[in-house]
Order: sequence, then C-alpha cells, then structure tokens
Amino acid sequence: MKHKILITGGSSGIGFGIAQYFYKKGWDVLITGRNKDKLNAAKNAMPNINALEYSSLNEEHLDRVIDFIGEIWNGRLDILVNSAGHVELGSLKDITGSSMSEMYQVHLIGPSLLASKCLDFLAVTKGHILNITSSHGIKAYPGISAYGSAKAGLNMLTKVWALELAPMGINVNAIAPGPTNTDILKSAGFDDETISAIKESEKKQIPLQKRGSVADIVSAAVFLLDSGSEWTTGVVLPVDGGISIS
Ligand SMILES: NC(=O)c1ccc[n+]([C@@H]2O[C@H](COP(=O)([O-])OP(=O)(O)OC[C@H]3O[C@@H](n4cnc5c(N)ncnc54)[C@H](OP(=O)(O)O)[C@@H]3O)[C@@H](O)[C@H]2O)c1
Repeated sequence: MKHKILITGGSSGIGFGIAQYFYKKGWDVLITGRNKDKLNAAKNAMPNINALEYSSLNEEHLDRVIDFIGEIWNGRLDILVNSAGHVELGSLKDITGSSMSEMYQVHLIGPSLLASKCLDFLAVTKGHILNITSSHGIKAYPGISAYGSAKAGLNMLTKVWALELAPMGINVNAIAPGPTNTDILKSAGFDDETISAIKESEKKQIPLQKRGSVADIVSAAVFLLDSGSEWTTGVVLPVDGGISIS
C-alpha cells in the first residue's frame, strides 16, 4: 500500500512545500486549508492530491479528516504534519479572551486533538508526527504574547508526546522556523508597506542576514521525516538563520 501523509495547512507556504515533496515521491497526500481557492490551486498544481476544508476551530472538520483516513485510506497514515497556523500581534494591554483562545485553539488544542485521533493509525505504521512551531516559541519578543506562548506550548507538547509515544514506535519532532517567505504576513492582514517594513526589520535581526525560504524548511522536514533519521525524537529544530540564539 502507498505511504500516506496528512498535512494541515498544506494549501499554502511551508505545508504546501512539504506536500509537494511527498507528492513528487508518489505518496498519497491529504492537505487541508480554510480557503477553497487555495485548495483548488493546490489541486491544479498536483492533480492527484486530496484536499479537505479544515479550520482548527471546528471539531466537525477534524472528524471529517479522521473519517477520510479511516474510510478512504483504510486507516493507513504514516506521517501527520501540523502546519496550520496564523500569526497575530497584540500587546498585553490590548489582549482579549477571544484572540487568546483562538491562538491556543489553532496552535495547541487543534493539533492535540488531531494527533490524539491519529494515534491508532500511526501506531500501525510506527509513524511520525511533525509540528511546525516557531522561533517565537523559543525567543521572547514584545507584542506577540499569544502567538509566542502558543508556539512555546507546541514545543513542549512535542517533547511530551515524544516520550508518551516512543513505546508505540511513533517519532515526534518539531521544526521552529524563523522568518520565512510565505503568505503568512499577508494573511494576517498587513498591507504591503507594513510587510516590507517587518521583513526589513526581521532581516536585520537574523545573524545569517537573510530571511528563510520554504525550501529551507522543507530540507529540515526531509531530514526528520525521510532520511532514515529514525533515532531522532523529541527534537525542536530551529531553522531560523540563527535568530533564536541572537
Ligand atoms: N512564515 C513564517 O515566517 C513562519 C515562521 C515561523 C513559524 N511559522 C509557522 O509555520 C506554519 C505555516 O505557516 P506559513 O508561513 O506556511 O503560512 P501560510 O502560507 O499562511 O500557510 C498557513 C496555512 O495554515 C492554514 N491555516 C491558517 N489558520 C488556520 C486555521 N485557523 N485553521 C486551519 N488552517 C489554518 C492556512 O489556510 P488558509 O490559507 O486557507 O487560511 C494555510 O494553509 C504556521 O503554523 C506558522 O505559525 C511560519
């Protein structure tokens, strides 16, 4: 039976890059996203890909993904990649309960419930979970407490799950990207001028003096998921031009 990978947020950016890699290898790939146009564009680029609308805020969407794996893929899953996510700025004085709970739902609760429901599948294949976290979950910055703490939490979940799932032969790792060129700033609602200013400011803080590309993150994913590095688990791998140690 063909190998199978589920990538949340696979309709765009980092998730899309990982989807392309495994699609080209001939794997069955299931991607998710919220925006139908982006899902359709991904299908145009990769005609045999499977795509489902999925919001991490909606538990029915989660069940739809699990039903797909159970029914269409006969319960086979080799890799789960939790890449779905979005960024939001906000200082402590402006914080609202709804923005905090949305951040935690998308980056902590959604991935936890999905991983939990995928366990029976992954136990059979002795599969792998990869969480896409962030350098913001390692290094503190002012004005981004909800996103930063959510990603820090996902880093810790990676280690806890790695310990819990090791006896089942399931590896769990994370990549913590630094500033990477994707649609994430546009999706956050920033205008072009603000995006350029953010990119310029981030570039100055990166020791290697350049922003990352999706290919930089895909290379790290390939190392963790497809290079025979089966003795690696519980790792949070910064791929960030050195920003998290600067
Ligand atoms: N790019 C960076 O600089 C950077 C740095 C560190 C970490 N990251 C992390 O990398 C991951 C991928 O981001 P990216 O840069 O590839 O951004 P992207 O190109 O905007 O892709 C984000 C993906 O996640 C989906 N998504 C966003 N919010 C969602 C939600 N509430 N429920 C379900 N799906 C949702 C998006 O779907 P729609 O487009 O349909 O909304 C899209 O498929 C994120 O977890 C992000 O936090 C990115």
